[in-house]
Amino acid sequence: MKNVLIGAVLVGLSATVLPVSAQLTNAPPTLAEPLLRVPTVDYRKTWVQLGQFSVLAEKPQNGAKEIHATYTERKNVDAYLKEGKFPDGTIIVKDVWGTKTEALTTGTVSYAGTLEGRFVMVKDAAGKLGKGPRFGDGWGWAFYKGDERTMTITDNYKTNCIACHEPARETGLLYTRGYPVLQKK
Ligand code: HEC
Repeated sequence: MKNVLIGAVLVGLSATVLPVSAQLTNAPPTLAEPLLRVPTVDYRKTWVQLGQFSVLAEKPQNGAKEIHATYTERKNVDAYLKEGKFPDGTIIVKDVWGTKTEALTTGTVSYAGTLEGRFVMVKDAAGKLGKGPRFGDGWGWAFYKGDERTMTITDNYKTNCIACHEPARETGLLYTRGYPVLQKK
């Protein structure tokens, strides 16, 4: 899988769709740095949901194959709206949900089913919060399979993450376009 990602970096990424499995390296799980672990608080209830992305199934008429939902603490949203960027220490969690799709009275509808995994990023522009291969480009980066909270399979953000976030560099490496709450009214 690593070769796929490295290949994608070399040929340039503009139109490349990387399979989600590219995020799932074969690296043995290792204990992540405390700041990079899935937060112990009930973030779905107590943090702000920034927004959702739905990834369509191969046949779009089958609905979405995944729903991604992103969260951070309210104080970080406030800081972002004031300063146009997240402060160091900001933790961002993205849930990756497998879906169920049904014909409901509104149409063909996909909704969250099983939790496939979670992505965590921690802002570290000053480079003071972490060292090593999961830190760089102003962030810490980690992925956790399923319900896992502490043992990450991300061994190096350069091969596991950055290529796919490069297209969002102008917005701080985040896909802020999908987050209505961050838009100034
Ligand atoms: C296959 C390409 C791809 C890979 C690999 C990838 N990401 Fe992402 N990531 C995206 C895209 C595209 C989005 C926004 C749209 C979506 O969720 O589908 C996103 C969104 C996120 C978000 C929500 C914040 C945001 O940027 O909008 C987090 C957190 C995140 N990714 C973390 C990671 C981490 C950590 C890794 C490496 C372990 C990683 N990603 C690897 C493509 C990727």
